[in-house]
Amino acid sequence: MPINGATKDGNHHAAGKGGTSLSLRGSKALTPFSPYIQAVNDAKADQWSPTNPDGYFLMATAESVLSFDLIHEKIRNCREVPATVGLYGNFRGGERLRNAIARMMQRTFMGVEVNPSHICISSGVTAVLDLFFFAACNPGEGCLIPAPYFPAFDNDMAIRNEVIPIPVQPGNTQTYIPTAAEMEDAVVEAAKQGINARMLLITNPGNPLGTLYPEATLKELLLWAVNRGLHVLSDEIYANSKFGVSVDEFVSLEKVASNAVKENLLSAELVAELVHTAYGMSKDFGMNGFRVGCLHTKSKDLLEFWQNMGMFAAVSNDTQHALAIMLEDELFVDSYVAENNRRLKNSYELLTRSLEMAKLKYMPACAAMFCWLDLRTLLTESTFKAEVCLWKEILDECRIVLTPGEACHYAEPGYFRVCYASMPPNQLQMACNRLAKFVEKKRRKRKAPEIACQQD
Ligand SMILES: Cc1ncc(COP(=O)(O)O)c(C=O)c1O
Repeated sequence: MPINGATKDGNHHAAGKGGTSLSLRGSKALTPFSPYIQAVNDAKADQWSPTNPDGYFLMATAESVLSFDLIHEKIRNCREVPATVGLYGNFRGGERLRNAIARMMQRTFMGVEVNPSHICISSGVTAVLDLFFFAACNPGEGCLIPAPYFPAFDNDMAIRNEVIPIPVQPGNTQTYIPTAAEMEDAVVEAAKQGINARMLLITNPGNPLGTLYPEATLKELLLWAVNRGLHVLSDEIYANSKFGVSVDEFVSLEKVASNAVKENLLSAELVAELVHTAYGMSKDFGMNGFRVGCLHTKSKDLLEFWQNMGMFAAVSNDTQHALAIMLEDELFVDSYVAENNRRLKNSYELLTRSLEMAKLKYMPACAAMFCWLDLRTLLTESTFKAEVCLWKEILDECRIVLTPGEACHYAEPGYFRVCYASMPPNQLQMACNRLAKFVEKKRRKRKAPEIACQQD
């Protein structure tokens, strides 16, 4: 048999188990990280529009269309094309954009001085996480993540980098606020299974909850993780989307770490090596398609690593240039952020008013673009099989795509993530009406005998 499985006639035999010629890691990535992704893709091709009134409402994608009119108008006026855009740039990001992003982060949410030389720019936070996991963790090591969490993290860590996600369930199911003791238990449990926990990943403001971590919680988790020698990465991609009333103010992990150093609770060297923050343009600025994200780190090794490996996920110089010009306009940034938050608030209130009218429970949110919906009372039983059935009924009958709680690794069945910013308010109202009608019908049917759910 010739090498590479080529037969005499020159054809190639499918090498993998399932008849694929791809590598083991390539074949693992053939199926989406979660089954609901297929429904998202199908629904995208058949979305609601005035000419497709029975089309789907896609509420499972973390995308905001609410303020893109403002960005669109602005960015068109920022499009200069300097002669240097045709050349390779710095693979940690060009100086002008690193300066502009650093200044914007410092001014708008980080609360500490941000040195542009600590910024690494890549094509979205997805790419930032991919490179980070590659650099910081060995294959087979674990990453602690408070659950419920953003489903695509599984893609970034497990599928791309063979890092094992360790979801940590909240002891407090009212606030979902994690504790260091819960993290410690998870580390011990993972070790029993031969998994070495290497890092902690937190998302603040949260996806899928749309809530903020109290400063005291951030401090508790930070001190615990750093003293245990773990990397801590805070994904703050929603840091400029805060619109609601909450007991807690948003505080960046960088600020908490800087205070811990000032109070002599942690050494500056350890913090520089182990504490990192991710930010991106996809959410707060509704610029998913531009593919721009960044890592803030003081780790010399990580910065050096990015200089070499950043090329795999570099942002085009053309995009960098336009974005830098946009972010340098501080008046624009400030008025955009304020207006975007006003629009997020408006949509959130529209959604929650409808949920309340339909007597549906949800976790109150104050940030990001999600609502964590509690549909436990509509389950036929408290199992993930029943959750899938309900999710499918909502998909088929309401033609609404939601993210099931199981995909967010939440331990209790019956919760769903709703993204309310992925459509304008008039469409959101229609989606809410469909959902309310469905719930009413379902409750009426409840009184009649149950019909078993068909799962294919
Ligand atoms: C918490 C979180 N991190 C990262 C990402 C990925 O964003 P990007 O478009 O920058 O890759 C998302 C997108 O939904 C997210 O919600």
